[in-house]
Amino acid sequence: MMDVDLRKLPRHIAVIMDGNGRWARKHAMGRISGHKKGAEAVRITVRTCREIGIKVLTLYAFSTENWLRPDNEVQALMHLLEEYLRSELHEMLENGIRLTTIGDTEALKEPFKGILRETMAKTSHNREMTLNLALSYGGRDEIIAAIQKLVQDVHSGKLQPQEISKDLFPNYLYTTGLPDPDLLIRTSGEYRISNFLLWQSAYTEFYFTDVLWPDFNREELFRAIAEFQRRERRFGLTSDQIQEEQTS
Ligand code: IPE
Ligand code: IPE
Ligand code: MG
Repeated sequence: MMDVDLRKLPRHIAVIMDGNGRWARKHAMGRISGHKKGAEAVRITVRTCREIGIKVLTLYAFSTENWLRPDNEVQALMHLLEEYLRSELHEMLENGIRLTTIGDTEALKEPFKGILRETMAKTSHNREMTLNLALSYGGRDEIIAAIQKLVQDVHSGKLQPQEISKDLFPNYLYTTGLPDPDLLIRTSGEYRISNFLLWQSAYTEFYFTDVLWPDFNREELFRAIAEFQRRERRFGLTSDQIQEEQTS
């Protein structure tokens, strides 16, 4: 398994799955075929993460901005996601995988919305791994939605303004209850965050690869984790302080 140390795994891996369209073009196919192949890479990634013991996997499947793509592409993506859930339910139940979502999922359409709700309910007791799908997700919208809830709580007297802190605030985000991502992977050679997990990625390690998402596989995942394990996370401290912490 390459150089992966199973005792030092990231607890939470987040992935910006990018490059389906370019993969399709490279193979002289339509964009939808790229998304289809991308769904295969999702299966491989989920399976591998579960197998090695990753606790949380967040996949950026559809952004708030992606709604502005051509209608037929949006519909095809929703259809593929629906198909994915239908085909994977059995495996999720068998492997203790809990499905959760982040994003404005109210904006999703039936029948996908229904299948999503059903899959979350059926897998809600699973504890081995959380598969967290970012759907109709935007980091800025998430922060605004959190502020709206927070202000409501202040208005109703449930919360005092001075109680608002960096520890309390995340309870209002979509990701409440989940640890921050330790490792964020972006495929397809783009070096940007594209409105993903803005608050949560404050101290996340970023890994960029030129591999297009449909070509992502076990080896690529291990490569990313091995690179993560070679890094020193300092959280603003000095290297000496971190070494001391590790030996004490
Ligand atoms: C990622 O691939 C999938 C989604 C954003 C839904 P793209 O569709 O963005 O692929 P490129 O960037 O056009 O190659
Ligand atoms: C980010 O990819 C969103 C998802 C992977 C779902 P995009 O392809 O939408 O991002 P940009 O447009 O290149 O920033
Ligand atoms: Mg893209």
